Amino acid sequence: MATYAVLGSTGTVGGSVIEELLKSPARHIYAYARSTKKLFTLHPDWEKSPNLDAYEGTLQDIETLADCISGTKAVFMCAATAENQPGCDVARQQAKSVVKALDELRIREPQAQLPQLVVLSSSTLEPHLTRDLPALFHWLLVRAGSHIYADLELAEQFLRSRDDIKQVYIKPGGLVQDIPHGHQLSTERQQTFLSFVDLAAGMVEVAEAGDQYDLKNISVIPATEGTRIEWGVPYYLFKGLLIHWLPGLYPYISNWLP
Ligand SMILES: NC(=O)c1ccc[n+]([C@@H]2O[C@H](COP(=O)([O-])OP(=O)(O)OC[C@H]3O[C@@H](n4cnc5c(N)ncnc54)[C@H](OP(=O)(O)O)[C@@H]3O)[C@@H](O)[C@H]2O)c1
Repeated sequence: MATYAVLGSTGTVGGSVIEELLKSPARHIYAYARSTKKLFTLHPDWEKSPNLDAYEGTLQDIETLADCISGTKAVFMCAATAENQPGCDVARQQAKSVVKALDELRIREPQAQLPQLVVLSSSTLEPHLTRDLPALFHWLLVRAGSHIYADLELAEQFLRSRDDIKQVYIKPGGLVQDIPHGHQLSTERQQTFLSFVDLAAGMVEVAEAGDQYDLKNISVIPATEGTRIEWGVPYYLFKGLLIHWLPGLYPYISNWLP
């Protein structure tokens, strides 16, 4: 039975990845959360699942993190911030802590094979994937998520400097809550929009493929037409741009609708 660790398991992407993994009884999941109470309130069925164990800890809790990722085939790194928060560093914290936990596992079990890291990122970081987007829309996107992208970029630089660690980057376009429309993996283009469930199915396919996609930037795109449009995008852009140009406003507007 293959075991997978999911960090950020209370989040939308992390939760969707777990739902996808649970579709096969041949997979076991170690779900890492800051609060297992929150995890099981969001997903009551998971508490009794024989295929899921929960680990409670922060990203600073290296011992618990090492326990959670020990013996896994892949670690889905889904702890993230969805808001353009000035100075956000969740991606960097997650990257540094996972690397520390892997180093700890090397000491604990020198012969053990270490897991591959499946890192949630964004196509906005990858000019090759976004070259079909209208230039103005891309320009706005880069600024509306500037603090998130800076964090993701630095986290990736840090992880890629460790060439002893297996890692793959998942870089989707805009995400939306929708039913499944099937998925494809692409190294050529992103598609906005993609449902969270289709993203999760793509991430699991990448993880199950082992080393095949090592070090690559993979976008997941819908396999068929019809993914819902997220009509909240203009609002997301407006709020993100306001924070980009006037970061001091963040404490006052962060409680606006997500
Ligand atoms: N939305 C899009 O259109 C889009 C497009 C492309 C890529 N993305 C990627 O998706 C990410 C957003 O993912 P999402 O929608 O799943 O976000 P989300 O629903 O807000 O989930 C974030 C997860 O990260 C955890 N987390 C946040 N801060 C943490 C911290 N300091 N320490 C430990 N855990 C922490 C949260 O835990 P708690 O529950 O404890 O807070 C939660 O589990 C973006 O940053 C970007 O990388 C999004």
